[in-house]
Amino acid sequence: MPKIENISVGLGQRSYQIFIGPDLLKSANLYLSDFVSKKQVIIISDTIIGPIYQNYLAKIIMPLCAKVDNLQVPAGESSKSFSTFNKICDEILNIGIDRNTILIALGGGVIGDLVGFVSASLLRGIEYIQIPTSLLAQVDSSVGGKTGINAKAGKNLIGAFYQPKLVLVDTNVLISLPKRQLLAGYAEIVKYGLLGDANFFVWLEKNWPDVLSLKQDKLIYAIKRSCEMKAEIVATDETEKGMRALLNLGHTFAHAFEAITNYDGNLLHGEAVAAGLGLAFDLSFVRDMCEKEEANRVRAHLLQVGLPDNYAALPAGKASISVIIEHMKKDKKNISGNLTFILANKIGSARVVPNITEEEIKSFFMSKGVNCV
Ligand SMILES: NC(=O)c1ccc[n+]([C@@H]2O[C@H](COP(=O)([O-])OP(=O)(O)OC[C@H]3O[C@@H](n4cnc5c(N)ncnc54)[C@H](O)[C@@H]3O)[C@@H](O)[C@H]2O)c1
Repeated sequence: MPKIENISVGLGQRSYQIFIGPDLLKSANLYLSDFVSKKQVIIISDTIIGPIYQNYLAKIIMPLCAKVDNLQVPAGESSKSFSTFNKICDEILNIGIDRNTILIALGGGVIGDLVGFVSASLLRGIEYIQIPTSLLAQVDSSVGGKTGINAKAGKNLIGAFYQPKLVLVDTNVLISLPKRQLLAGYAEIVKYGLLGDANFFVWLEKNWPDVLSLKQDKLIYAIKRSCEMKAEIVATDETEKGMRALLNLGHTFAHAFEAITNYDGNLLHGEAVAAGLGLAFDLSFVRDMCEKEEANRVRAHLLQVGLPDNYAALPAGKASISVIIEHMKKDKKNISGNLTFILANKIGSARVVPNITEEEIKSFFMSKGVNCV
């Protein structure tokens, strides 16, 4: 039986634990008891995960709690919207809550981001727990307290930094996760190796088949190493004034590609990130920051596992350069109108590069054969 891993996110009074292991849902009563005992609990999930795990979880924690309710929102990125935020807040307020009520986000990154923001907003802040069910949410979005929804103007533009009380990662729930979603989550794991741990990237080059076939020891190690790196960065820079931006490696590209598809489900966040990682290393090479072999190695790994490595490889969107740049200009990292990217000196060493001009990005995309207009 694999060991249960435990990581602390050190944020003073807002510190919390991440537990990682198989079958943790089954013992959710043990892990959650300190947080839900005698309290009103509302479990929020989506219409795909809810029917599989929501009642199961409710039954396990019910004996501890004063009351447990289940709510669901439609599955998919479109639920990270004002209309779903409104609707779920109304539903919760109609049930009737007080400052002791605790929410449980049971789902992927969409549920985690949405429920976190709902928790930050209701009664000016009530507690919440993250039980991430997609690989992407288990290695990234459930940790660090970035919560929010998308705006017409761009992704994640409305939200709050608001930390959960606990993150419970049950690696067995990934059995029901579609393969495409699993791969999309793997892109964020690759990101950690690329941004700050070359040895971890080497480990992934060797062990990816075991991680993606859910061999528990290897899977747990990959999730643990990702969460450790995220926890360390978040503890140093909770509100992204500095090094937390490194977690956005590939994301200036990715967020623009996602916005172009209008979050219609044709392009998964992790797929956009994979393409963004390949492009970030290519741009790093073009700017003489890293060797060509490094960029080639990154793209080779992405392609080997079945992820896109550049814009042309994306299943959705063949937008022109000017449309891509218009979306990039809305990125939260930009300063005074110039674009900011996270680029790399080599595998395992990323840095923030501000003041990249539109002209430079235009010629970069032209060199990749993307349409000008
Ligand atoms: N807050 C952060 O720090 C952060 C970091 C990275 C990504 N994100 C956000 O996360 C979101 C993407 O998350 P995601 O990829 O998990 O998307 P998602 O929540 O839409 O989940 C993907 C799909 O998988 C289904 N699913 C999830 N777990 C399942 C399971 N165990 N079995 C069967 N189906 C399952 C969901 O119902 C959904 O259809 C994006 O909105 C992105 O912006 C946030």
